[in-house]
Amino acid sequence: MPDNLIIQGPEKGVLLITLNRPQALNALNTELLGELSAVLDAAEFDTEIRTVVLTGSERAFAAGADINEMAARDLVGILEDPRVAHWQRIARFPKPIIAAINGFALGGGCELAMHADILIAGENARFGQPEINLGIMPGAGGTQRLTRAVGTALAMQMALTGEQISAQRALQAGLISEICPTELTVERAIQIAETIASKAPLAVRLTKEAVHKASDTDLATGLRFERHAFTVLSGTADRAEGLKAFQEKRKPKFTGC
Ligand code: CAA
Repeated sequence: MPDNLIIQGPEKGVLLITLNRPQALNALNTELLGELSAVLDAAEFDTEIRTVVLTGSERAFAAGADINEMAARDLVGILEDPRVAHWQRIARFPKPIIAAINGFALGGGCELAMHADILIAGENARFGQPEINLGIMPGAGGTQRLTRAVGTALAMQMALTGEQISAQRALQAGLISEICPTELTVERAIQIAETIASKAPLAVRLTKEAVHKASDTDLATGLRFERHAFTVLSGTADRAEGLKAFQEKRKPKFTGC
């Protein structure tokens, strides 16, 4: 059992992962990231798990990389940082991740939230890339994913001043898709995750990959990927079932084939 995570489920296809290092506002040390990476490794091939909800506490989603651990690393330590592999593992997880963000999502915490496919936040959420205050810079995708999400001007302002933005501002800027009352954030994320878990898994997987292509490639490449993925799905039993169920005016029964 992981020491820094609480794992619940899967229930109705949803695995709930709660970051649990309250003494450090869920700061992301190597151990926590390693545990998260291992849980996702197992979840990828577990057919009972269709979607993942990732959350923290009401006070903090995560307050960034663990500064004490980071302070002990020299240049070689940073070059050989095992956390890089854990971040890559999270980024290539093929099933949808919904982040339910309350409280602080700062530095690596904001970067972890941006590894999710759907971000929803409580009214008390605060987003920021405060690394500049420590004489460093974002190192887990913050300069790239934040810029793609909110545009250059706001990303520059956040990364260069270290100032936080509110959930309202994050919604307006397109970083998150919904705000809810803080105490309902996880419940709402689970609701979204359950809805997605009820869909055809292969269609979900290829849709996630195709949407990410919009920020990973040029338009022509993205459109080509979309067409190939669309074509691949035409050979699935779930497509036949989905279309037939519509014609027969009943709910489809998807099997993942
Ligand atoms: N690493 C390690 N410990 C942390 C931490 C972090 N990132 N953030 C908070 N903590 C610890 C504090 O040291 C404190 O521990 P003690 O009780 O033992 O003193 C505890 O969590 C509670 O924190 P505060 O007392 O500071 O709580 P607060 O409400 O006054 O302030 C805060 C909250 C504004 C989030 C403040 O804790 C803070 O500024 N934290 C650091 C945020 C930050 O700079 N994050 C970026 C890290 S670098 C990074 O993430 C690099 C990367 O991209 C890979």
